[in-house]
Amino acid sequence: MATVLDSVRAFFAHAAFTIDQENAGDIVARERLLDHVMGEARFRKSSEKLRRNRLPAEGLALVARDADGHVIGTVLLWNVEAGVDADGNAVPALLLGPLAVDCAHEGKGIGGALMRAAITEARDRGHGAVLLVGDPEYYERFGFFADEVQHLVMPGPFERRRFLALELKEGWLDGAAGVLVASGRRLSAERRKAA
Ligand SMILES: CC(C)(COP(=O)(O)OP(=O)(O)OC[C@H]1O[C@@H](n2cnc3c(N)ncnc32)[C@H](O)[C@@H]1OP(=O)(O)O)[C@@H](O)C(=O)NCCC(=O)NCCS
Repeated sequence: MATVLDSVRAFFAHAAFTIDQENAGDIVARERLLDHVMGEARFRKSSEKLRRNRLPAEGLALVARDADGHVIGTVLLWNVEAGVDADGNAVPALLLGPLAVDCAHEGKGIGGALMRAAITEARDRGHGAVLLVGDPEYYERFGFFADEVQHLVMPGPFERRRFLALELKEGWLDGAAGVLVASGRRLSAERRKAA
C-alpha cells in the first residue's frame, strides 16, 4: 500500500490534498463528513445492507486530507459475493461506496483521486471486480459500466442504470448472477455498541 500511496502522493504533490489510508482516528471525521454531504438518507440505501455491522475491505478505506491533515474526502470498499458463476460458485467482489468530498472542496479532483487510488489498491490486492450504485455520468470516466451486472441485483430497491461494475480481471463477472451478499469482516459487538 505504501508504494501505491507514495505514487499517488507524488502525482498530487502540487495539489492541496493528499490521499491516505484511513486510520482509527479518522472514523469520527469521516462519519461527520458523510452526515454532512449525504445526510440520513445514506442509511436507507440498499448498499447499506451490505455494509451494516461490517468492516471495510482490508486496506480499502481511504481518505483525502487537506494540508492540515483534516479529512476532506472519503471512499470505502466492502467485500461482497456478487452472486454465483455458471458452476454455482460464489463470485467474490468489492462494493464501492460511499464516495464523498467535502462541499467546500468539490471540483478540485479529489473525488477522482480517491477513485483512482481505490481502484489501484484494489487491483494490487488481487481483487477481481468493483461494483457500485452511482451516476454513470460520473463513474464511466473510471471504467464503470452496467453491462457486466445485468444478471446481478442489489438486496433491495436500486436503479438498474446506476448499478455499475469495473472488472479488474478480465471476465471476472462472466456469468455472475444473483443477489449481492455481504461477506466482509464483522464489526465486533463493542464497535457496534459504540457506533
Ligand atoms: C461526486 C463527488 C464525490 C465528486 O467529487 P469531486 O472531488 O468534486 O470530483 P472531481 O473534482 O474529481 O470531479 C469533478 C467533476 O465531476 C463532475 N461530477 C460530479 N458529480 C457528478 C455526477 N453526479 N454526475 C456527473 N458528473 C459529476 C463534476 O461536474 C466535475 O466535472 P468537470 O471535471 O467536467 O468539471 C462529490 O461531488 C460528492 O461528494 N457528491 C456528493 C456525494 C455523492 O453523490 N457521492 C457519489 C455517490 S456514492
